[in-house]
This record gives sequence, C-alpha cells and structure tokens, in this order.
Amino acid sequence: MPRRIALLLILPALLGARAVRDEPPRTTKDGVYTAAQAAEGEALWKDVCQSCHLPGALVTPATTTKWFGRPLADLYGYVRREMPQLDPGSLTDDEYRVAVAYLLKQFRMPAGTTPLPADSAALAAIRIDSLPSASRTGSR
Ligand code: HEC
Repeated sequence: MPRRIALLLILPALLGARAVRDEPPRTTKDGVYTAAQAAEGEALWKDVCQSCHLPGALVTPATTTKWFGRPLADLYGYVRREMPQLDPGSLTDDEYRVAVAYLLKQFRMPAGTTPLPADSAALAAIRIDSLPSASRTGSR
C-alpha cells in the first residue's frame, strides 16, 4: 500500500517532467505527411503493395494496437526492411516514405503541410497515435 501511494506521488512529477521538455511530442495526428505524398503513395501502393494488402486491409485492431505508441521510425523501418514481402528493400527511400504516408492516410491520420521526413531521427521523434475511430475498424 505505501508503494501505491508513492507511485501516486511520483506520477504527476513524471508527467510534469515530460511537459517541460523543449518540444511537445509530435504524433501522427499532427499532420506529419502531405496530401501529395499520400497521393504518390496511393499510386505506388496499387503497383507494389496491393497484391497483398488491399487499401485499408491493414486498418485492423491487430495492426493498430501493435504499432500504437511506438515511434514512427519503427513502422517505417519495418516496412523498409520487410516489404514488399517477396522483394524486401527493393524500393527507394522516397518510395518507402510515400508508401508510409499513404498508410497513415489509411489509418485516418490527417495530412498537413510538412512532408513526412526521410531521416530516422526525425521519424523517431514522431509517435504513432491511435486511430480516431479505432472502435469501428473491426467492421471492415
Ligand atoms: C507478397 C505479399 C506482400 C506484399 C507485396 C507486401 N506485403 Fe506487407 N505484409 C505481407 C505479409 C505476409 C505481412 C505479415 C508479415 C508478418 O506478420 O510477419 C505483411 C505485413 C506488413 C505490415 C505490418 C502489418 C502489421 O500488422 O504490423 C505493413 C505495414 C506492410 N506489410 C506494408 C506493406 C507495404 C507498404 C507494401 C508495399 C511497399 C507491402 N506491405 C507489400 C505481405 C506483403
């Protein structure tokens, strides 16, 4: 019981410490890709990804809960390393970038004015947020 009380005392301090960091954490809900990138990604997706993942097919609770809260660099890195499954690593960095932009669009994350960054440090600073309507995705 004392331990639980200690935790209750520590928690606000931890949260406060996060809040005073220089930059507030960016998430995928903050407009981290452009509509143009998503449009390019959609065309690429049809060519390269759609044979296995119809648009929207990855928008399932299994996928979204797996990536929720992780840095976007993890998801980008996974796609870059493992996809397309029969020929991993066969696309250019820019192609992977627009594919991930379109994936974010499928996840109903908003587009913005800042393009999705290419470097892993910038991608690591973006947190993957939950779907605005995660509870409805199961009906697909
Ligand atoms: C030949 C079929 C195939 C193609 C083409 C393909 N994928 Fe995949 N993809 C898979 C399979 C199979 C898995 C699941 C792998 C596993 O769980 O180990 C997967 C998993 C994924 C995941 C992770 C899903 C999760 O639940 O975490 C993402 C994201 C993804 N693919 C994106 C892409 C993108 C982007 C492309 C196009 C550049 C692509 N895939 C092309 C077969 C494919």
